Amino acid sequence: MKIGLLGTGNLAVMLGKAWAGAGHSVVVTGRNPAHARTAAQQIGSAAAPIDPSEFADAVDVVVVAIPWDGLDHALNLVGGPSGALSGKAVIDCTNPVDFTTGRLIPATGSAAEYVASLAVGAGVVKALHLFAGASWPFTGSPATAPVVAVCGDDPGALHHAEALIADLGARPVTVGGIDAARQAEEAAGFVMRVVAAGANPRLAIPHVDPVPAAAVRSPG
Ligand SMILES: NC(=O)c1ccc[n+]([C@@H]2O[C@H](COP(=O)([O-])OP(=O)(O)OC[C@H]3O[C@@H](n4cnc5c(N)ncnc54)[C@H](OP(=O)(O)O)[C@@H]3O)[C@@H](O)[C@H]2O)c1
Repeated sequence: MKIGLLGTGNLAVMLGKAWAGAGHSVVVTGRNPAHARTAAQQIGSAAAPIDPSEFADAVDVVVVAIPWDGLDHALNLVGGPSGALSGKAVIDCTNPVDFTTGRLIPATGSAAEYVASLAVGAGVVKALHLFAGASWPFTGSPATAPVVAVCGDDPGALHHAEALIADLGARPVTVGGIDAARQAEEAAGFVMRVVAAGANPRLAIPHVDPVPAAAVRSPG
């Protein structure tokens, strides 16, 4: 798969390295060409920097690795509002969270829905915001693989996202449509609050045995 990293920082480099290691080719872009060159060098020989104007045509899947307050600028750089990303799968990794309080910044909706509004015609999926980039690739036993919750409506985009998440060594689990993204983003804020309070977030949720999907769907 040709993966386009929109963003040249920590998460882009970590994901890029992991996907390059799984055999994907990667292009990297952002507002600063020097940062895109450095990020591509850090990822390795499977990666190349690319000008934002050439980005959309060069990729199958876009991964948004940009802070909340840079989304508008970054999506405009690659022509999202003019439809340049139409038909592409876009994975939004943004944590639109006030890191000092854990509060979600958008009053309504989600970063993923905001990305969808800026990536006209694209299939937008929320995923990979909860885990640090340094988590990837996961190389432990599949039985203990991290579960990456995915939200989205576009079947093709979900398929691409699930395949790329599996290539990180994680287990993708689609938990809802894009209207579930706010809850997924709130989960990151909750984790930050628990950490800020000095506790381990793994111990802040109950152990619940998985219920068979048929039982969840049953009306009775
Ligand atoms: N780091 C992680 O482990 C991790 C894990 C999960 C989710 N996330 C989320 O992923 C996103 C990126 O995190 P990060 O740690 O990679 O951040 P980072 O290292 O600070 O990199 C941020 C990237 O966004 C660009 N950017 C910042 N403001 C911009 C603006 N106004 N317009 C255009 N581009 C802008 C930066 O460009 P410049 O280089 O030019 O500043 C850089 O390419 C955040 O939403 C974060 O919450 C991060």
